[in-house]
Amino acid sequence: MLQRREFLRQSLLAGGAAFASRYTSLAQVPKFAGSRIEVLLEEPLATISPNIYGHFIEHLGGVIYDGLWVGEGSKIAHEHGLRKSVIEHLRSIQAPVIRYPGGCFADSYDWKDGIGPQDRRPRRTNFWIGSENDQSPPSHKYEPNAFGTNEFIRFCKLTGSQPYLAANLRSLPAEDFYRWVEYCNSPAGSTTMADLRIAAGFREPFGVKYWGVGNESWGCGGNFTAQEYAVEFRRFTTWVPGFGQPLSLIASGPNGDDRLWTRGFLEEIVRKGAGQLRRVYGLSLHHYASNLSRGRSTEWETSKGDAFNFEPVDWYELLREGDRIDGMIGAHWQVMEEFDRDHRVKLIVDEWGPWYKPGSEATPGNILEQIPTLRDAVFSAMTLDIFNRHPEKVAMANCAQLINCLNSLYLAHEDKFVVTPVGQVFELYAAHQGGQAVRTIFSAPPIDYDRDGKTARFWGLNGSSSIKGKTLLLTVVNPHVSAPHQGEIVIHPSRAKSATATVLTGTGGDLRSRNTFDTPHGVVSASQPIKMRDSGFVFDFPPASVSRISVELA
Ligand code: AHR
Repeated sequence: MLQRREFLRQSLLAGGAAFASRYTSLAQVPKFAGSRIEVLLEEPLATISPNIYGHFIEHLGGVIYDGLWVGEGSKIAHEHGLRKSVIEHLRSIQAPVIRYPGGCFADSYDWKDGIGPQDRRPRRTNFWIGSENDQSPPSHKYEPNAFGTNEFIRFCKLTGSQPYLAANLRSLPAEDFYRWVEYCNSPAGSTTMADLRIAAGFREPFGVKYWGVGNESWGCGGNFTAQEYAVEFRRFTTWVPGFGQPLSLIASGPNGDDRLWTRGFLEEIVRKGAGQLRRVYGLSLHHYASNLSRGRSTEWETSKGDAFNFEPVDWYELLREGDRIDGMIGAHWQVMEEFDRDHRVKLIVDEWGPWYKPGSEATPGNILEQIPTLRDAVFSAMTLDIFNRHPEKVAMANCAQLINCLNSLYLAHEDKFVVTPVGQVFELYAAHQGGQAVRTIFSAPPIDYDRDGKTARFWGLNGSSSIKGKTLLLTVVNPHVSAPHQGEIVIHPSRAKSATATVLTGTGGDLRSRNTFDTPHGVVSASQPIKMRDSGFVFDFPPASVSRISVELA
């Protein structure tokens, strides 16, 4: 394993930056000083939508079968066939919303296959079969449909989350979308679809509010142009009754920074009048941080980095790739304003996270599975802070994906289960949900690092703050691989009474710290009270860390 000592040596060679090991007394080592974080309590931004802390599950690899669904007859602790440990953890982080059934899978899925008695449900070829391998179990290749709408809704109810269903626009007619809404939302006694639901044991309507109309319609969801998709969107969403539940319809939005998609879609939507915008609750945005090739490749497969085998430069490159979403949010928002001056339509970042090349699966055969490390925890915290800083723009975000896939919060296989460092970040940040975001200014020396002989730069400290009642929550990322960062935190006006910090970081000086089935505590968090000064306090942010500072206000 590449230990922190080696990172220290490399980062010294790279940029001559100040450095320190967190295992040396902070008083004796050089550190970044002179940083300042100013929290402006009287400059509210907007309320942070709880849905920014949302999740995503897809019929893909080990997400549903083995990850979430263990089956009614399983020896593994479960509730109605659903893995109990996942339910309990999601409850504890107040999971607000879960997106299902995909992803690309959604546009190949017939929801009618997944209702009715389980033993009579058909087996179908899974969308992802072409990516599966010899080690993948049959249920990942041939969808058994044991988990469908009813099981998903039960899962949402057990976890206290809102369902967000993605409808098939590529391979089913608009009528099927309509009927799915009818199945979920029409009251008992009203329709044949309601009778079917009741026969499955669900008398009360599911009341599904969030509906995605296709997924990645520029790619796997139909390969449409933005204009073609907009026409389809209008057709699919015309006269879809909510059955007493107002629907929030989410359009398939841009891939990363593709503003042409955003403009093309909205231009076509309003061609029939600005009133057409009323049916668009949100425009989805997907961004995966995947290209770690440092400009050597733009190919999806060859540009990816490794989940474990990385150098400091890859650490910063991943963060830089992820940080781009900040600019994307602003850029799409500006385009949206051209058509929607009042910003009725919000951004829904319903897929985000790092995406590495294969090779770090916790369970061989689980495609797209990767074991998150400390780097992914720092990445995830940084991303959630970005969303918190745009509370008026981002109405929902869904980390891709919840379990056994990409930026997972949890890994599970048979009776083994572990919370990843990403899951730990969601625990740390949960209290931001529904908080009032306030403007916070971070002034910190940037980090210079070596990028193939040239100096590249990344910010020194960043984060977000929100207030709930008399509690201020400040979350801060120190992305430096080796240097602690001393920051003076000033709260305006001066109302701080007491504060406690919880810091999440790796153990043993290893940036690749991670939680596995055998060693579940590679990334750890610890809390400590902070000594207050008049209007604030000073805090040492350890290298490669995520900190949550909770301040009681007068
Ligand atoms: O999250 C994995 C896949 O990434 C999704 O199915 C798709 O929407 C995206 O391309």
